[in-house]
Amino acid sequence: MNGNPGTFPRRRASLAAAAAFLTAVLAGVWLGAVSCAGGEKRAAVFLYTDSDPFIASYVEEILRIAGSDLKIERYYARNSQTIQNEQIEEALARRPDIFLVNPVDRLGMYPLIGRLKEENLPVIFFNREPLPRDLELWERSWYVGARAEQSGQLQAAIIASLFGKPGGPAPLDRNGDGRIQAVILKGEQGHQDAEIRTEQVTKSLAAEGYALDILATEVANWNEEQAYRKTAALASRLLGRIELVISNNDAMALGAIRSLKDAGAFADDNGDGRISSLDKSWIPVAGIDGIKDARDMIERGYLAGTVYNDYRTQALAVVSLARSVLGLPPLPAASPEAGPIEGVAGSGSAKYLWVDYTPVRQQ
Ligand code: BGC
Repeated sequence: MNGNPGTFPRRRASLAAAAAFLTAVLAGVWLGAVSCAGGEKRAAVFLYTDSDPFIASYVEEILRIAGSDLKIERYYARNSQTIQNEQIEEALARRPDIFLVNPVDRLGMYPLIGRLKEENLPVIFFNREPLPRDLELWERSWYVGARAEQSGQLQAAIIASLFGKPGGPAPLDRNGDGRIQAVILKGEQGHQDAEIRTEQVTKSLAAEGYALDILATEVANWNEEQAYRKTAALASRLLGRIELVISNNDAMALGAIRSLKDAGAFADDNGDGRISSLDKSWIPVAGIDGIKDARDMIERGYLAGTVYNDYRTQALAVVSLARSVLGLPPLPAASPEAGPIEGVAGSGSAKYLWVDYTPVRQQ
């Protein structure tokens, strides 16, 4: 579930002014709460796993831009909330100045938020969104993320551009029945991005007039290997009928491509020396994230497109917000590629920072 901004006031930052914007948005919230400004501060970062390529790039970026006056300790939870809770208790004993949390179970953050409130410690959640009512519990808690709806809608736009206008000529409608036979690879159940992306991509295609037959929906938990295995099982009965693979993220899209290739798809059927949609066995696969390996697969003609989940700007939002909260000076200059950061209030104070997705397609 996404924190619905509802009727709360919104403000949009210019590209270069992210840090100043954050200071302005948060001024009322934190200035009074900071006891000692300046000096060196410590942040403890909690990650749901160490084997998610998207999260790995995100954390690397946080570390890269944090600044020498903000020391960062990392804890990886091996996808277990129990482990993450223990790590948080352990970290509490070392008393970092701020917690940056990528939860394992985003729906179970109530006790943690209560605990941090008790300790008067600020917390920024990112990528896996706690329930709004849990976040409201503690005024020094925030969420940095990207709107899942937008990624589903942009993914649908990429797919629409591949298939052309409904009813028109569609070479990728391989059986020519005027419908698209699709397979969906879903991320982890209950993750806001898995649920909302799936709903929005299918809804948006239907709204544009595409008739979609969902041959199968497989949960592969964001993971390339799981997607490889699940697609292999599907391909053994459905290859030849699959006209589209919709994946909730790039890692699973890459697993699917590898698997379909092993099953005989993505061959250079027309012998032009390259892999492209002109080859009869080519199947459009659409991902989300824009990680490096996915961009390479777009270049090489395999992956049809992806939607950039702008982890650089999200990391910038996390770090800028953390620095504001801790009374550290703003980062010297926002990165030139940084996108807009939108601040949205919770009941009474700025709670959410949102970053836009952008589409990435084959040229
Ligand atoms: C990303 C996935 C990632 C997940 C982890 C999503 O926003 O698209 O690639 O596995 O977050 O929480």
